[in-house]
Amino acid sequence: MKLSDIDFDLRLPKPPMVLVAVLMIGAFVPMGIGSAIWFKRNYFDPNPRIHIFQDMDNQAKKKAQSTSDVFVDGRAMRDYVPGTVAWGRSANSTDPGMLKSDDLAYRGFEISPETGEKVVLEDENGNPVPKFLAGYPDIVEVDQAFIRHGQEQYMIHCYTCHGADGRGMGPAKRAMDVLATYDQGVPKAKATGTVALIPANLTDPKFVEGTYANGKVFNVITHGQGTMNGLGPMIKVKDRWAIIAYVRAMQTSQQQAAAE
Ligand code: HEC
Repeated sequence: MKLSDIDFDLRLPKPPMVLVAVLMIGAFVPMGIGSAIWFKRNYFDPNPRIHIFQDMDNQAKKKAQSTSDVFVDGRAMRDYVPGTVAWGRSANSTDPGMLKSDDLAYRGFEISPETGEKVVLEDENGNPVPKFLAGYPDIVEVDQAFIRHGQEQYMIHCYTCHGADGRGMGPAKRAMDVLATYDQGVPKAKATGTVALIPANLTDPKFVEGTYANGKVFNVITHGQGTMNGLGPMIKVKDRWAIIAYVRAMQTSQQQAAAE
């Protein structure tokens, strides 16, 4: 007997059309949604996104540097009215520092009146440096009371790191050293380098008057330097100059022999 003689149907019954349709939709629809999302996320669309909760997010306004048909010159931004002064300041103010236009006092270096840019000199290595003020600006008068005031400000703002004698061993520095070498009172097997605070020794000859200009110290106080933070926002401009006068007095006293 041959196999072909046996009479039975080896073909499986066809699945119902509904099932085929459901499976095909089930396979292709998520792919379609996925590609649509991918496309939307990766291609630039000049139209804004669909934004359901507006919450005043979109308002009619002119952005900086944009154009406007309202004005003849076509610019949305308007120029200052000639002769106006910075908002919140009074033209009748008796304070000559009103506009902080005295660059030596408020920046510590010279600005060229012609170009409005920093006057730049070269240091011994040929690198550009601002022309720092060597002495004191006109807004301060250096006398004993001023230096005393500077001492007070120094003790508030600098002492913690630079120390009372300026040698860089203030309480913050000493505490950091303890943190680096002790763990809860127990000496660490190996000092960790993670806490390192090395305030400059302000009595070092490289920081004395004539070598390190007052304007440069002013900039270190204002903007910081290396690992020292800028303290500008915390110390008034005149107080910064007072601190400088005190640091100078301190340096002088530290350079003298005991007999002098
Ligand atoms: C939080 C600690 C801290 C305080 C507060 C602090 N300093 Fe310093 N200062 C440092 C450290 C640290 C350095 C070393 C910075 C470096 O070289 O990376 C430094 C460096 C300096 C230098 C030398 C910058 C140079 O050119 O090398 C001057 C000048 C100075 N400080 C002045 C002051 C004066 C003035 C005050 C107070 C108004 C002050 N510092 C407050 C930590 C401090």
